[in-house]
Amino acid sequence: MFRRAVCPGSFDPIHNGHLDIIERASRLYDQVHVAVLVNPSKKGMFSVDERVAMIEEITAGYGNVKVESHQGLLVDYCRDRDIPAIVKGLRAVSDFDYELQMAQMNYGLTGVETLFVPTNPTYSFQSSSLIKEVAVLGGDVSHLVPDLVLRRLTERIAERRAQPTNP
Ligand code: PNS
Repeated sequence: MFRRAVCPGSFDPIHNGHLDIIERASRLYDQVHVAVLVNPSKKGMFSVDERVAMIEEITAGYGNVKVESHQGLLVDYCRDRDIPAIVKGLRAVSDFDYELQMAQMNYGLTGVETLFVPTNPTYSFQSSSLIKEVAVLGGDVSHLVPDLVLRRLTERIAERRAQPTNP
């Protein structure tokens, strides 16, 4: 049996905590799909295509990771690709309520299972939004993101600073 799972998220941008979960999932499953979910109501720091390209480059060495974007329900992504399992990292108890709700909703919609992987404590405080906030304010996030992401973050912040501000 060929076992597939998906690691879904916004990944704006991917950080070391995400990567830890993807890497661990890639050891448990024959193929891991990383699904970058499009949220039309949120303007990210990176476009969805930029996020996909970064994740593809960073995970290329794993050999069994496929990166795609998807607009719509995660359960539809899973059904269209015959993926029976969603793998999510749980950082802390505060993640649990919402993750449980989503897992139960997704199971109720199509029967797709959600498996929770405890985040490595080294990464338990990491979130893309905090990392962006710290980076924009000049803090050092080099230990929190892959080198490629650090370079892209630095470039994007510099581009934004160079843009004329609206009156
Ligand atoms: O990285 P995030 O933003 O915490 O990931 C949340 C995400 C994208 C996995 C979740 O919002 C999601 O699954 N969105 C897709 C739309 C969907 O299926 N919504 C119903 C969830 S029960």
